[in-house]
Amino acid sequence: MTIDKKGIVIEGSKAGVFYGLQSLLQLISANSKKNSPTVDLPLVHIEDYPSYSWRGMHLDVCRHFFTKEEVKKYLDYLALHKLNTFHWHLTEDQGWRIEIRKYPLLTSVGSKRSGTIVGPYSTTAPSDNIPHEGFYSQEDIREVVAYATARHITVVPEIEMPGHALAALSAYPEYSCTGGPFKPAITWGVFEDVFCAGNEATFSFLEDILAEVIPLFPGKYIHIGGDECPKTRWKTCAKCQQRMKDEHLEDEHALQSYFITRMEKFINSKGKQIIGWDEILEGGLAPNASVMSWQGTKGGIAAARLQHDVVMSPGQPCYFDHYQVIEKEKEPLAFGGFNSLEAVYHYNPTPAELSEAEKKYILGSQGNVWTEYIPTFSQMEYMALPRMCALSETLWTPASKKDFTSFQQRLRVHATLMDAKKINYAKHFLQKP
Ligand code: ACM
Ligand code: ZN
Repeated sequence: MTIDKKGIVIEGSKAGVFYGLQSLLQLISANSKKNSPTVDLPLVHIEDYPSYSWRGMHLDVCRHFFTKEEVKKYLDYLALHKLNTFHWHLTEDQGWRIEIRKYPLLTSVGSKRSGTIVGPYSTTAPSDNIPHEGFYSQEDIREVVAYATARHITVVPEIEMPGHALAALSAYPEYSCTGGPFKPAITWGVFEDVFCAGNEATFSFLEDILAEVIPLFPGKYIHIGGDECPKTRWKTCAKCQQRMKDEHLEDEHALQSYFITRMEKFINSKGKQIIGWDEILEGGLAPNASVMSWQGTKGGIAAARLQHDVVMSPGQPCYFDHYQVIEKEKEPLAFGGFNSLEAVYHYNPTPAELSEAEKKYILGSQGNVWTEYIPTFSQMEYMALPRMCALSETLWTPASKKDFTSFQQRLRVHATLMDAKKINYAKHFLQKP
């Protein structure tokens, strides 16, 4: 972007021009004066390009549902911060949120839970008994994807398997090991009832679902989850044990690997690639899979060394559902943990222990917004921003050029733009001198 006496010129690729316009918007906001109909812009020449190709934000719409209008607003915030990947977490124990025409019970049964636990997580926490529900029709999904595409954002849908499947199994218990019955969860955590890996029909069911999901999303990736799948049921299920014998699998981790590799083959046959949480490394990584490292950076490092692409999203500092200041008692109830704005800013997604060749497999990073304790859009804004601003700078700016003091000063200016957009961002940084 060049602003000189003759005018304003923005040049770049299509996305580059779009990002240039975001910079121009920021410059206009930063130089606007109250009650003045005109703006004086500084003469500038800016050349910029991102450090990473995966600049993501995730949103869990299962623990709490967000409408398509709210999701579009979220996409506006990604675009404003020049982020290009939206990881849409669509299925969970607590709710199935995407219409699948062949299996209508997924939404008529699986998108509704009878209540939500009150207060901090415990196995004895009471339910509020307030029904919680919501899902996106395939038309809604198309609309959101088109909205994202217009903003140079790729949507990565997540369809969880083999764990975090209780909502799906409430609708179709025949694809579990025990046959059920089940209900969509009203509490959080990890549940032992998962998809049966021994039943052929489970795979047909999931392939049918993916055959409807895949055409809705033009991007390259389908996220298949893969995290937190207890092996309890598989250990005592005759079908799962038979599968292990037939396929010469030495333990249940190998069975998980069989499950993911089999689904990968199907997804690859439809021209798409899988990405999964780092547990997909257990028992052997599927041949073409990319890995999203959330349990620290170990999984990402291991995957890069195996020459697989990696997205770094370690709990510290990329989980934006964690507290953002140390004085937790002054904050609205959150999941736990502590990821400060400064920690997000200083995050370097590329682990130093990788060789130069291995570093090329680190596509980038993303912030994750799990919504167990985020019941409203306004609360979601409070958790996501300004940490999203810090993440954006981490993904655009070479580590050697990052400067937290400068970022804090610029964030105060950016705050006026967020105010104009009526974003409920967290304001702790404004209190600092
Ligand atoms: C995860 O937080 N279970 C990916
Ligand atoms: Zn089974």
